[in-house]
Amino acid sequence: MQIMKTLIQLSLIATVLWGCAGGLNPNNTEKVDAAFARYEDSEGKAIFREKCAKCHSFKLPETRTAEKWPGIMDRMARKAKLNDDQKSAVVAFVTKHAKAS
Ligand code: HEC
Repeated sequence: MQIMKTLIQLSLIATVLWGCAGGLNPNNTEKVDAAFARYEDSEGKAIFREKCAKCHSFKLPETRTAEKWPGIMDRMARKAKLNDDQKSAVVAFVTKHAKAS
C-alpha cells in the first residue's frame, strides 16, 4: 500500500508542476472556458480560440503588448492560414486586450 501512496503523491506533484509550466493548455477545457469568458464575444475571439492553439498552448492577448501583436500576427496568420479578414479580426481582438506597455 505504501507504494500506491507514493505513486499518488508523485502524480499530484506532476500535475501541479504541469499547471505552472506557463501558457494555457488547450486540453484543459475548464480553464480555457474561464479564460475566454473574460473577453466579450467577437469574431476575432472565436477565430483565435479555434486556430491559435494548434501548434502551441494559447498565448493569450494580455501576454503581449499592442505594439508586439501586429508583427507576431504577420507570422501567425500565415501559419494558421487565416485570410485577410480573419487576420484583421484576430489582430483587433488581441490588441484590444493586450498587455499595457
Ligand atoms: C502551424 C503552427 C502554428 C499556428 C497555427 C499558430 N502558431 Fe503561433 N507559433 C508557432 C511557432 C512555430 C512559434 C515559434 C516561432 C515564432 O515565434 O515564429 C509560434 C510563436 C507564437 C508566439 C510567440 C511569438 C513571440 O515573438 O512572442 C505567439 C504570441 C503566437 N505564436 C501566437 C499565435 C496566434 C495568435 C495564432 C493564431 C492566429 C498562432 N500563434 C497560430 C506556430 C503556430
